Amino acid sequence: MKRTAFVTGATGFLGAFFTVHLLQQGFRVYALVRNASERSLSPVINQINHQLSGPALNLSDNFFCVDGDVRIANCGLSDGDATRIAGEVTDVWHFAAAFEGSGNGDNSVFETNVGGTDNLLNFLLTCQTSVRLNYVSTAYASPVVDGIAWEDLAASESLNRSEKNVYENTKAEAERRVSEFCDKRELEYRIFRPPIVAGESGSGSSLGYTGYQGVFRALYLLKRRLEINIGEDFDNDLRLRVIANPALPVNVVPVDFVVNSMWRLAESVRTANGLFNITSRSAVNLDALFKAASQSLGVFGISLSTKHDFDAEPLTMAERLFRRRMKFQEPYFLTSNQFDSSKFRDHVAESDLPSPACEPEYLARCNKYCLEAMELEFMAT
Ligand SMILES: NC(=O)c1ccc[n+]([C@@H]2O[C@H](COP(=O)([O-])OP(=O)(O)OC[C@H]3O[C@@H](n4cnc5c(N)ncnc54)[C@H](OP(=O)(O)O)[C@@H]3O)[C@@H](O)[C@H]2O)c1
Repeated sequence: MKRTAFVTGATGFLGAFFTVHLLQQGFRVYALVRNASERSLSPVINQINHQLSGPALNLSDNFFCVDGDVRIANCGLSDGDATRIAGEVTDVWHFAAAFEGSGNGDNSVFETNVGGTDNLLNFLLTCQTSVRLNYVSTAYASPVVDGIAWEDLAASESLNRSEKNVYENTKAEAERRVSEFCDKRELEYRIFRPPIVAGESGSGSSLGYTGYQGVFRALYLLKRRLEINIGEDFDNDLRLRVIANPALPVNVVPVDFVVNSMWRLAESVRTANGLFNITSRSAVNLDALFKAASQSLGVFGISLSTKHDFDAEPLTMAERLFRRRMKFQEPYFLTSNQFDSSKFRDHVAESDLPSPACEPEYLARCNKYCLEAMELEFMAT
């Protein structure tokens, strides 16, 4: 029987890259898409596949978008789609998540990340018994003890402890629900935790502006704004103070590293019901990330420090704008942990899939790709 995947979040960055991988592996894919009738994912899938230099994919027979929303019971699937998918699906990949506006009391983040996972779990009960669930979480859902983010579930009493955002708490809560629900019903599952994901290693290509790409986009938009406001006198000096620890190590990995790691883990019988921190051994410091971004944008004047005196010199309009855009990312500029990835590495040896090093050349490729995509968007508006 042909393996069939049901994928949530296939319109997003990781989900789209992983969907291409599944199609390359010969899967049939049902992608849950909000407003599917108005959105065609095929060009995105083809474009990613083309960038990865894969042979043409047979989308018409193997790729189907189905309308739905994870916040609705049965993921909002029509009765016909639900019955068809439940009868055919062998593998479920759950990428759908909300980050935007992650702030205290943001219900849509909870509804999507926790409620959406509950709805998906309940849908699994209608599927054939051998279905395997793959839940894509984040390394930031790891419980932290003594500065180490461990490859374990967070204890229930420590949930809702993240001071950074609702997102981290909801991802940890969803992990716990996946594990409890599946253990009780003897359903096979795996939980994957990538750190910060950036573009594909070779081409630097990405999709959308989550994670690292979000920071780069905010700097680009700031440059654009200053070009418009200051005009010809703009000298590429952003005069931007960022509250950040320049020496902070940040775990950034290419999307293909995450795709390959998840695939290997998902295909190994020994990893059933496991949880894996798909992190890199090497980290890049924040200063290097901002330097790479400045270079790619042709700007200067970004000062990273935890000791800016905003009382003596209040925030400028540009700084306020940047901080508003960085509301989600800003806490990640101040603290980081070392990630335990021993279980991941027990199954995927360094010699088989080496930890990626986040070199300046790689960051330059990611930035170039992102910049071209943003310039195209800018020209289209
Ligand atoms: N990017 C990273 O650096 C990173 C790092 C670690 C973990 N992750 C995890 O990886 C997963 C994917 O992240 P990403 O960066 O690819 O995010 P993304 O680009 O923002 O994609 C999110 C996806 O979720 C879908 N979605 C959101 N709400 C939905 C709903 N109510 N019903 C159905 N679909 C919904 C979005 O669909 P629409 O197109 O309709 O909005 C989109 O396809 C997430 O679970 C995230 O926690 C990401």
